[in-house]
Amino acid sequence: MKNLFDIHCHIIPGVDDGARTMEMALKMLQMEYEDGVRSIILTPHYRREMFETPKEKIERQFALLKEKSEATIGSDLRLYLGCEFHANMSMVETLSSRERPTMAGSDYVLTEFSQATDFSFARERIYDLVSHGFIPIVAHVERYPQIRKDFENLEALREIGAYLQVNAGSILGEEGFQIRRFCKKLMKNDMLDFVGSDCHRTNKRTPNLGPCVEYMEKKMGKAYTERIFIRNPQKITENIG
Ligand SMILES: [Fe+2]
Repeated sequence: MKNLFDIHCHIIPGVDDGARTMEMALKMLQMEYEDGVRSIILTPHYRREMFETPKEKIERQFALLKEKSEATIGSDLRLYLGCEFHANMSMVETLSSRERPTMAGSDYVLTEFSQATDFSFARERIYDLVSHGFIPIVAHVERYPQIRKDFENLEALREIGAYLQVNAGSILGEEGFQIRRFCKKLMKNDMLDFVGSDCHRTNKRTPNLGPCVEYMEKKMGKAYTERIFIRNPQKITENIG
């Protein structure tokens, strides 16, 4: 399948725990391209006291990567700047003042929680975002035991206005049988909105949308797979809620 989107990855070099060098970043982009990906939202971590790379540095590295990607891979690979925002009490303020970017300049915010987060904290952050005009996407929702344990939690978050993202590796079973089963159930109940690679390197946690698309097409059909990997992500870059 062509013209896929990857909406969650750590490819901008030297700004978080993702790609270390420009060379590695370009190789990851090449891997994405070979998987059929043509649009990528690059989402470096932002997390207080852990990942606080100055915004200007991220923008500089992004511009440089974009320039090199156009020169070596080609201009049909579209790159957008985003952010994986680790939720905190003042995130609405940080986003509203543009201290940190949303997804591709849209109202969408890729929102991460701590693994041990409780549901009520997540729900409150989601509610806060939505009530201020943002559209939260819960990053790798399969990773939070307190949220995933009860499908009613997921329904509640979606009712408030959140979208749900899982990692390709989780669908493929790389995080174990239970997580794979959870992802399957999410798909069967039509509660999944996005899949991202969440790739960090060229050797482990690599770009892997190709095999995931293949698997999903077999299990869920072509129309469903196109919706998850193309049509839903298009709504982000076109900023349609
Ligand atoms: Fe991530």
